Amino acid sequence: MPKIEGGEFWRGIKPIEQVFRADAQPEAYVANAPTEDERYYVPFSDTVFSRPLWISPSQNKWADILYAKAAGLVNRHYHPHEVFAYTISGKWGYLEHDWIATAGDFVYESPGEGHTLVAYDHEEPMRAYFIVKGPLIWLDEDGNSAGHFDVHDYLAMCRAHYEKVGLGAAAIDALIR
Ligand SMILES: [Fe+2]
Repeated sequence: MPKIEGGEFWRGIKPIEQVFRADAQPEAYVANAPTEDERYYVPFSDTVFSRPLWISPSQNKWADILYAKAAGLVNRHYHPHEVFAYTISGKWGYLEHDWIATAGDFVYESPGEGHTLVAYDHEEPMRAYFIVKGPLIWLDEDGNSAGHFDVHDYLAMCRAHYEKVGLGAAAIDALIR
């Protein structure tokens, strides 16, 4: 194919007319996902916050920006399902692994992993894009189950926080697919 120099060469391409199949749901567009506006960050632990981007009750799964302003902790837990993470800023890791993630680093955690998430002191806040399939199973110091957290807890937590800070619980409904 001849190379067209410069310009948005795709301008003449016709968009698909039937975008959605009959049972498909609309896309979700969230501007500026790792926002500076702290109202969007729902307290997940005392020191770590979550901005919900997409929530799927039927898959027990969600996508979010995990955020810590300074040193932070999400206490030890077990994942029966997978987790994906992409680091936007700051520095974070798990007590159980040697690596430390910084901007640009990608992490995949296989189903069946237990870990303790920590955010390090850094000049920039920790911001990481996570895709989590629930539940998280909280673990005690001996590694025994001590409760759980899944998409239903996440939804309730997000709705309550958005209502409290004036964004409105309905803003969470717009993220559900
Ligand atoms: Fe985790």
